[in-house]
Amino acid sequence: MNGNFTFHNPTRLHFGEDAMGHLTGELKNYGTTVMLSYGGGSIKRNGIYEAVTAALKEAGKTVVEDGGVMPNPTYEKVMHGCQLVRDNKVDLILAVGGGSTIDYAKAVSASAYCTEDAWQKYWVRQEKPECPTVAVGAVLTMVGTGSEMNGGSVITNRKEGFKRGKVFGTALFPKFAILNPRFTMTVPQYQMVAGFFDIMSHLMEQYFAGTADCTTDYINEGLMRSLIHASRIAAKDPQNYEARANIMWTATWALNTLLKCGKGGDWEVHQIGHAIGLVTDATHGMTLASVSLPYYRHVMHDGLHQFVRFAVNVWGVRPEGKSDEQVAMEGLACLESWMKEIGVVLHSKELGVTEENLEQVADAVLILPVGYRTLTRDEVVQILRESM
Ligand code: NZQ
Ligand code: ZN
Repeated sequence: MNGNFTFHNPTRLHFGEDAMGHLTGELKNYGTTVMLSYGGGSIKRNGIYEAVTAALKEAGKTVVEDGGVMPNPTYEKVMHGCQLVRDNKVDLILAVGGGSTIDYAKAVSASAYCTEDAWQKYWVRQEKPECPTVAVGAVLTMVGTGSEMNGGSVITNRKEGFKRGKVFGTALFPKFAILNPRFTMTVPQYQMVAGFFDIMSHLMEQYFAGTADCTTDYINEGLMRSLIHASRIAAKDPQNYEARANIMWTATWALNTLLKCGKGGDWEVHQIGHAIGLVTDATHGMTLASVSLPYYRHVMHDGLHQFVRFAVNVWGVRPEGKSDEQVAMEGLACLESWMKEIGVVLHSKELGVTEENLEQVADAVLILPVGYRTLTRDEVVQILRESM
């Protein structure tokens, strides 16, 4: 292990079919007014809304309704939520949904009492909140982002022309998170497999960096193998509880700060994905899937040792009698077959990237000086073109 780090994760996480039984007890730790934030209505169709409102009633809360959080939540919606928080003196934001709703709740929490331009302060200058924040709790209904146990908050600002992530500190991690794998069973197949790829991408973004022998990489490989195994089952049989539960747990560990301990990280696939999301409003996991293969083939030679390790330890490629390059290429071919097997989008043109908007996408890509290679803008364009 190289470097110095502090590991601290304050989210209390309740997992399993009975997890919802903890909600009333958790709610009792906060003041009387709860803002109930949720998405476009799936929770009203699958019974989760009733279960949550029953717990809120049992805990004696006054509820401020805040529905309509869209996938890829916008800054405009965040500002609306901030107004609700201030007008009603909200004590807790209870986010019921996927990454979009939970990310949104963190954004509102940090922005409601911010006296500056919150977009500039958090998502552009990447500063810490200096104002009071509001506690956030989460009931997770869609698996992938890890937002249930981290400080991530990815917001789209169409006026400014960016989709940007801010990683808030532990004060903005959800105070508690309820994870019942059964709640995810109504997620449509397309969203479900997009979530599976999002998890794989979080694992790869943190794996493809550094040269040291690092315990974190061994943990990461175990999570990748569990995900690959369970996702093959779940893609064919989405109601398989064991597989869905394993994937839910893997998603949380894939992005709850454990896997960055002793590692640098890459995150360029996510930056390209965010730019595609900004321009096309496509599903997050699919944006990542559409660019990952061209990206990794492009940077493979800069981190060849790690791509060899990925091929051997994650995909079981036999290295005997082959060059490092052949082994690494075989690993990426295994990744591609798995992506085809679970059914993710392999071409960005299927998401709406065209020759006409390609430059606009490239302009919105944040180029990070991390990973094995810092891209130039021309390389971004090349990768985008190859992804189509
Ligand atoms: O809005 P509703 O009606 O609830 O429908 C949602 C939405 O349309 C639906 N859904 C969720 N749970 C469901 C369900 N449908 C039926 N049954 C259920 N149980 O699924 C759709 C997608 O939901 P969303 O929350 O947008 O998906 P996801 O969890 O993938 O979140 C994506 C957002 O998270 C950000 C992404 O950029 C994107 O904006 N990310 C957040 C991260 C973080 N906090 O650390 C990291 C990630 O890399 C990612 O960038
Ligand atoms: Zn992601």
